[in-house]
Amino acid sequence: MKGIILAGGHGTRLHPITLGGSKQLLPIYDKPMVYYPLSVLMLAGVREVLIISAPADLPQFRRLLGDGRRLGMRFSYAEQPEPRGLAEAFLIGAEHIGSDPVALALGDNVFHGPGFSELLRSRLPHTEGCLLFGYPVPDPQRYGIGEVDDAGRLLSIEEKPDRPKSNRAITGLYFYDNEVVEIARGLRPSERGELEITDVNREYLARGRASLVDLGRGFAWLDTGTHDSLLEAAQYIRTIEHRQGVRIACVEEVALRMGYIDAEQCRRLGAALGASGYGRYVMEVAEAVRAAGPAAPPGLTGAGTGTGRRGIVPAPG
Ligand code: DAU
Repeated sequence: MKGIILAGGHGTRLHPITLGGSKQLLPIYDKPMVYYPLSVLMLAGVREVLIISAPADLPQFRRLLGDGRRLGMRFSYAEQPEPRGLAEAFLIGAEHIGSDPVALALGDNVFHGPGFSELLRSRLPHTEGCLLFGYPVPDPQRYGIGEVDDAGRLLSIEEKPDRPKSNRAITGLYFYDNEVVEIARGLRPSERGELEITDVNREYLARGRASLVDLGRGFAWLDTGTHDSLLEAAQYIRTIEHRQGVRIACVEEVALRMGYIDAEQCRRLGAALGASGYGRYVMEVAEAVRAAGPAAPPGLTGAGTGTGRRGIVPAPG
């Protein structure tokens, strides 16, 4: 499966902060925003990721993430000259996708919750068509909204409805089979002039090939769209990290626990960042995995989701 992180747009709701650079490179507490969706893709087992952003911002993404080899990943980059809609990602990324299925993650979506990586790993192999994630919100007029029947079957999807049929927002993480490229090619811009991801999802629904998984209570899907929500997201991450002694969306740790790199590679990545608490954490994780030895494989449970504990090597998930 290929991955795409869409990290373009003008970030107008965060002006003047975003006048000088990309929203998705702003910090959420101790790491750049884009680490959060990147770690989700990595936990889903995606190793080849295309990062799409505005032409002026792409060099900063390259500088931050490089070619991905240090994480056992492969990153490539493409420009989106203007924010013409989320579904344009599949046109810009058509070559990258090739004949594979694809996961799209919005560069400003932050997910955190126990069992998320297990959920991804258990659901993905059985997914046909597309897999969407629903999350209850108090302001459904702001999102793509899914309506389900009593049996949990998806009935309709609407983009920013005036009269929402539910409060279940469709979050910014989407898994599709390869038909998504052909579907995106057939889209027309909406009234707001964008190729809408909701229109892609509706087409899957019409074909009877759309599933929705509810992210339950206890799960956090954080908004980063306004000054206040950005600060609240940072405070949330800080609180969990301090309380549990783990780092959320630490891509070096995820790479280690997924087996993309070994403990020595991880330790070196941490050493290069060693002046920061983040770097020291990466080294500690590497040391803990190394000390546990080959008999205890790095494991997946809790990787990057905040359910593991520092110094304890979780069992394989
Ligand atoms: O966050 C989930 C929501 O994302 C979904 O519930 C909606 O169905 C979906 O349409 C989208 O809602 P928004 O319209 O609010 O998305 P927004 O325009 O804020 O764009 C989301 C992110 O994607 C943002 O960081 C900017 C980036 N983006 C957006 C567009 C339209 C791009 O990189 N390129 C684009 O063309």
